[in-house]
Amino acid sequence: MRHLYLLRYLTTCLSLVIAIGLIATPIAQAKEIVIKFSHVTSGKKHPKYLAAEEFAKRVNERLAGKVRVEVYPGGQLFNDKAVLIELIKGKSVQMAAPSLSKFEAITKKFRIFDLPFLFNDINAVNAFQGSTHGKALLRSMEKKGILGLAYWHNGMKQMSANKPLIKPADAKGLKFRVQQSDVLVAQFKQLGATPQKMAFKEVYGALQTGVVDGQENTWSNIYSKKFFEVQNGVTETDHGVIDYAVIVSKRFWSKLPKDIRTELNAIMAEVTSDRNGMARSLNLENRQKILDASSTINTLSKAQREAWRQAMKPVWNQFADQIGHDLLKAAQSAK
Ligand code: LMR
Repeated sequence: MRHLYLLRYLTTCLSLVIAIGLIATPIAQAKEIVIKFSHVTSGKKHPKYLAAEEFAKRVNERLAGKVRVEVYPGGQLFNDKAVLIELIKGKSVQMAAPSLSKFEAITKKFRIFDLPFLFNDINAVNAFQGSTHGKALLRSMEKKGILGLAYWHNGMKQMSANKPLIKPADAKGLKFRVQQSDVLVAQFKQLGATPQKMAFKEVYGALQTGVVDGQENTWSNIYSKKFFEVQNGVTETDHGVIDYAVIVSKRFWSKLPKDIRTELNAIMAEVTSDRNGMARSLNLENRQKILDASSTINTLSKAQREAWRQAMKPVWNQFADQIGHDLLKAAQSAK
């Protein structure tokens, strides 16, 4: 009889252990969180490509088993227009880094970054982004379901066409591809040119077939996408900037455990500081590669560049009220 009780007791204990084990297992082996990071650039010497790879590497090492970042470069997952819609849903993509010119559908505040000749160089852009104003802009999309985690640099824009662009009148009558930004549309109209909004992926083909005559972009984009091959030289105008907002889906982010969010934020801050410091030299390497490929780079004298500035600056008046004069002042004084 005592044996029977003992046996029953042991069986009950065993069932309890199994039951607890079954309940506990899903927690102990909680599913790895996957972050799909989509962007449109490629090229081993591209600032955004490298920053995204570095972010993934550090997360995948430091949060191994808990979080895995998968980077999809070259627009293979989504283009920059579709990615914003999908990112808000938070299911098929959770992170992205579109250029600041591509947020028109979400916010008009980023228009400040597209005003021609507003920032002298990437250091001025950096100073503005790090200011109270810059940080507030990054948080301004929260109500739309998008959180800005960081600004990543690419660099200053240069201009190219199927003929040399030395003076503003050279652009007159030409068709230029622009990103999804009304400021950039206005900028080319100001020059008497015809702007056409177009996805990054389509630019090379459009230049090659003559759908458009010219474009504006950074050295790293012009080199990695080989735009210089189908243009008659590139003019070093440094007239504007292409930088990125690294964004995450609010719906996705708010469900993450707090300690994971803290660690992801820390890694993002480290990568941003390391990689932003390298963006300028990467662009200069790409510039050199364009020269090595026997392509022409037209440099402008101070007076020639001033002529472009005078020709494009009236665009500011069209957007200043909407952007806000305080913001404009803050950006102008950023060094
Ligand atoms: C472009 O469309 O020209 C750029 O925004 C691409 C990029 O992400 O740098």
